[in-house]
Amino acid sequence: MAKHTVVTMPGDGIGNQVLPEALRVLKAVGFEADYVHADIGWECWRKEGNALPDRTIDLLAKHKLGLFGAITSKPNREAQAELNPELRGKGYVYYSPIVTMRQRFNLDVCMRPCVGFPGNPLNYIRKNGTGFDEPSIDSTVFRQNTEGMYAGIEWTNPPDNVRSALASHAKFKAFAQVPGADLAVSVRIITRGAARRIVSAAFEYAKKRGFRGVTICEKPNVLRETSGMMEETAKEVAKGYSGIALWSTNIDAQLMWLNKNPEDYNVIVASNLFGDILSDAFAGLVGGLGFAASGNIGEEVAVFEPTHGSAPKYAELVPPIVNPIAMILSSAMMLDHIGEGAKAERIRKAIAAVVREGKVRSYDMMRLAGGPKAIAQGAASTHQMTEAILGKLQ
Ligand code: NAI
Ligand code: MG
Repeated sequence: MAKHTVVTMPGDGIGNQVLPEALRVLKAVGFEADYVHADIGWECWRKEGNALPDRTIDLLAKHKLGLFGAITSKPNREAQAELNPELRGKGYVYYSPIVTMRQRFNLDVCMRPCVGFPGNPLNYIRKNGTGFDEPSIDSTVFRQNTEGMYAGIEWTNPPDNVRSALASHAKFKAFAQVPGADLAVSVRIITRGAARRIVSAAFEYAKKRGFRGVTICEKPNVLRETSGMMEETAKEVAKGYSGIALWSTNIDAQLMWLNKNPEDYNVIVASNLFGDILSDAFAGLVGGLGFAASGNIGEEVAVFEPTHGSAPKYAELVPPIVNPIAMILSSAMMLDHIGEGAKAERIRKAIAAVVREGKVRSYDMMRLAGGPKAIAQGAASTHQMTEAILGKLQ
């Protein structure tokens, strides 16, 4: 029996196209594992009224390691309309399975590396007088994954007890006369323990990689309590890492600096919403969704997935054209996580070689409109991209 069993959850749409490609690469680097398929996503919702069935939760609880493709989510009304007629009107409510999974297994550390591969035509470049620089970007965003603005505690027309609790705050006076139906409230919750875990993960990573500093990116001048607690915790944690500086930026200013000096930020840590925004912004500098990998890491269970979604408009194309690199990089992160870093490095080197050579490029790397014509216009198919990567593996 192999040492590891990986729960594979391709999910919906292009998740089914990219996940098998990652498995081919894992096999080619000699990673020995058993794989068990698990159902997740829109089809599960339609047929069973639950996008994350218990059998999938059980498999993750048992094997602790997952690779996930992508899921499709739709607004509530469409979710109800597409539900199996036998289940309609029986109180089934659609919840995003990935959010549920993060909460169920407390996958509270979300790690999103944004590392530029030299020669990628989608990389950030900067004018230098006579020509262009391609700064080397190696940034990893550590995003708190279970709390903050995405904790899910929100109301339109809050119940009376919530409203009166709000009214006990002096600042609520300004809203006291707003009718309930016109009042929407989302609660931003930060707990010290979770803050400590995400910041510590960032510092541990900086230490392992030999980086000089960690940037905490919040807005404590305005969000005094929640961003304040993030910052305060970061200062505490930083005391345990003598060689690593703690820098602090505000989310708005940070996004501006991304356009000036992105190479200065190697490790950034932020609460849920800010981390989500930051990681997409950084990903845009190194190739966008086709290159954006992530890990959802808890104390016991870890699930790795590309940041992109199910891209339904490309899901039916034959041959598939989407870029498998984000998924392949996610599987390399899984290898890092379980102490198979040398294999992960071989995968990243092979990807780097394909990108540098520039002969095989998926449609997104050529700035083509994705669609059936992309292949005729010279884009590599999903499969061809994987083949090229396999060809460069050493
Ligand atoms: P998306 O990430 O699926 O696609 C947006 C666009 O990005 C695509 O149309 C395509 O142009 C490009 N793209 C995405 N992946 C690519 C790849 N591997 N290679 C090349 N180009 C790629 O986001 P969208 O369209 O907003 O959402 C589609 C569905 O996916 C929705 O139902 C949404 O809820 C879901 N979603 C799921 C996520 C997840 O599974 N974690 C994350 C984001 C969206
Ligand atoms: Mg996002």
